Order: sequence, then C-alpha cells, then structure tokens
Amino acid sequence: DFIGPHVFVLFGASGDLAKKKIYPTLWWLFRDKLLPKDTLFIGYARSDLTVPTLREKFEKFCKVRTDDPEQKAAFEEFIKRNSYIKGQYDTDEGYENVNTAIAQMEELYKTPVKRLFYLAVPQNVFQPVTKLIKKHCMATGDAWTRVVIEKPFGYDDVTSKALSDHLAGLFTEEQIYRIDHYLGKEMVQNLVILRFGNRFISPSWNRDHIAAVTISFKEDFGTQGRGGYFDNSGIIRDIMQNHLMQILTLVAMEKPATINAEDIRNEKVKVLKCIKPVELKDVVLGQYVGDPESKTEDGRTGYLDDAGVPKDSVTPTFATALLRVNNERWDGVPFFLRCGKAVNERKAEVRIQYKDVAGDIFDKGKLKRDELVIRVQPNEAVYMKLMTKKPGFGFDTEECELDLTYNSRYKDIRLPDAYERLICDVLSGFQYNFVRTDELEHAWRIFTPLLKKIENDRVKPIQYKFGSRGPEESDQLMRDAGYVFSG
Ligand code: BG6
Repeated sequence: DFIGPHVFVLFGASGDLAKKKIYPTLWWLFRDKLLPKDTLFIGYARSDLTVPTLREKFEKFCKVRTDDPEQKAAFEEFIKRNSYIKGQYDTDEGYENVNTAIAQMEELYKTPVKRLFYLAVPQNVFQPVTKLIKKHCMATGDAWTRVVIEKPFGYDDVTSKALSDHLAGLFTEEQIYRIDHYLGKEMVQNLVILRFGNRFISPSWNRDHIAAVTISFKEDFGTQGRGGYFDNSGIIRDIMQNHLMQILTLVAMEKPATINAEDIRNEKVKVLKCIKPVELKDVVLGQYVGDPESKTEDGRTGYLDDAGVPKDSVTPTFATALLRVNNERWDGVPFFLRCGKAVNERKAEVRIQYKDVAGDIFDKGKLKRDELVIRVQPNEAVYMKLMTKKPGFGFDTEECELDLTYNSRYKDIRLPDAYERLICDVLSGFQYNFVRTDELEHAWRIFTPLLKKIENDRVKPIQYKFGSRGPEESDQLMRDAGYVFSG
C-alpha cells in the first residue's frame, strides 16, 4: 500500500495537539523511515504562519539530537517536505488551495496522490471541515482518501449520532479513522495476544474463576490551566467512556473468528450490547481540592481554583463505575472502571482478580487472591500475583509475583508511541485500532443517561485531596461489589 506519493494534511496545524503530538510523531516516523518514501505534509490553520514560524512551535517537542549531524540533516529534509496553507475552516477557498497544492504534486509525480486528512481541530468545526474536504479535496483515480478524527466525538448520544450520520453521508466506514490513542498503546494491543495466544489463560477467563475486573487510569497532576476545556467534558467523557471502555471490550470480548479489523470490532460491539446504561447508584464521583501542605503549586491548586473552571462547577475529576456484562461468560462479575486526575500516581492498568481458592488447606486467611495485572503505563508490564512457599525452612505461604516487566525483558526495544503506531495504521489501511461507528454509538448509549442525570441534578462530587487515592467511597463501592483489596 505504500507505493506512490502520499500527502498528510493536518488541519489545526497551529494548535496544541499538532505541535505537541502530531508534528513530532510525523518527524519520528520520517526519521525512522516508516513513512511512504514520497510523503509531503501540508499544515492548515487560520493563523498567519509560514513553515519557519510553524517549525518554531513544534521543533522543541521533536527531540532532535543536535549532536548527531545525520539526524540534524534529516530534520532539515523533513522540514523541506512541509508547507503551510492559511484558511478558514468553513469557507471554500482554503480547501481549493489545498487541492491545488495536491494537484501540483500529482503533476510532478504523474500519478494520483493518496490523501490523509488529519483533523486536529475543535469538534465544533468537524462538520464544516469534513464537508469541505469532501467537496474539494477527494483523491482521484485509484488513490485513497482517509480522514482521521479525534475525540470528542459528540457530547452525548444525540450529538454523536448527528456527527456519525454527517460523516456517513460523506465517507465510507473504510475512509473514517476515529482515534482513541489508548488503542495504540503496546499493552492494550497485547491484550488480544495474551488472551487468545495462551492456553493457560483461556479456560479461566470467565465467571467461574474471575472475581472482578478493574480497569484504572490515574494521573498525578491536575488540569493545569486546561480546566476550561475539561469542565465541558469531565472525567467520564474525557477518559471513561472512550479509553477505559475500549479496554473493557478487549478484555471481555469473545474470541474473534480472525484477527482482522471487522471480526474484532464485531466482537467488541457484542460486548457493548450486553452492557446496560450505568446508573448513578453504581458510581462514585469526586472532585479534587488543593492540598495546602503540598510542595508544588499544582498540588496546592484545587480544581475550582483553575482559572477556566466556574467556581460552582460540579464536574467530576474522578469517577469509579460498576458495570456488568450480561452474558454467559461474565454474568455476576463486576467490571470496575476507575479514573482520576490529581491522585497519588500516574498509572493505567487492567487488574484481573481471581476467586478464592476452593477448599483452603492452609491457615485460614493466609491465601491472597491471584491477580493478573497488565500495566499499560508507566513501565509496561504483565505480572501475576500468586502464592508461593516462603523460601527457606518452614512451610509458610507468601504472595509473590511472576513478573514480565518490559524494560528489563526487552531492554533494547524502543516501544513506539501510540500516535506513531496509529498513523502507520492509517497509512496501511489497518482499521482494527480505530473506533467503528457502532462501537461509539453503544459507548454513548451506556453513559449518556448517567451524564444527563449528573448534569440535570447537579450531583455533587465528593471532595478528595490532591495527591490522595481519591474518595474512600470508591474503595467501598468496589468492596461492596466483591473486590478484595489486599492489605
Ligand atoms: C486524553 C485526555 O485523551 O488522554 C487527557 O483528554 C489525558 O485528559 C490523556 O491526560 C492521557 O493520555 P496518556 O497517553 O498520557 O495516558
């Protein structure tokens, strides 16, 4: 598929996502020769920019090794392949200019150019941008057009459906790539292989053996001035409804017929269909307050102290939800989704807790439950907590770990960043790691009633201190539903 010329058009080239993530990613892919050989990059935004001024914005995030002349030269080569077009998002002219630039490329190469359009723009312009791409910029001949968009995909079930319908009116599903960058993470991708590539895992992956599944996301920093953006979404829209639900479907799905995108996404959708909308009674919501004793300014700043956040905001920055997957495999097994900002550590993981050993022959209460942990970040790992004999004389039991920590086992392998993988996937036409329309529809079905309830009733979140584990009520919810915290 990498034959021939390609163009990467980045809408929102002047924005934060572009400078911090997309341009650096394009550079790393270029540096490592992972892009099609003849790829040109066009930045598009409303600001008055040129390639040199654009470069000033993103270069510092590119981590170019200035002590390496070869790399420095490669970076200059990368810059040469960039151009910038200034234009509005909702008028024809700019898009005509984009198309003219691509047409010139086609003349040069004497063949149709494959076109990737990446929308790093606010969601209120998704509709005009895609409409005008369709009107002016579609590929010719046998070249493809692919459109990449990033969340938020709507605000609730209704607005998300309106966006999906709009996109479906313009493009086929094969042309739409909805990014959920968690699907680009090494350990999230590993789930399918761990589950379906190991004989010892498959037979116990069900309600007979598993007591609870916990999928958690924690960040040890607050909104850091992004409060204005965050307050419109809250942690459920920002993390739970997308990143954590995607992981849940990969953990819970049945074995797909093959590993192709459609088979896998069909199975993911089936899981979603088995989940009822989350109810408020199964949720704990939190909002962080500053810790006056913190050594950092961030730590002393509460959510409501963020300049962009209304003083009476009830937006949750922490949430734990209990979900049930009502099918033969998972009946009775609680799935906990837990996410929080400004908590004690930065970590994302999947924790599978097994049931108690039947017929315990050791001293009562000594055996701890086995757990299989897939640590997504930081420091990727798969480890199993299990009981062994305490080494030495005696015959005591002890909890220990079988530990596959990537940075000791795979010392010399650089794990690509999620965006690197996903952009390569788009170029290869590999859709497995992108969110299909029906997955999105179900994810919203599951969370919209809860979000409406929280917003209409202005449900007050429980305060938790910056740097703490979050509200104690979250642990209680999990305990009540059968999770055992090992002390
Ligand atoms: C984004 C959220 O989707 O994911 C951010 O909007 C969050 O609020 C980020 O910080 C976390 O991504 P990562 O890859 O750093 O875990």
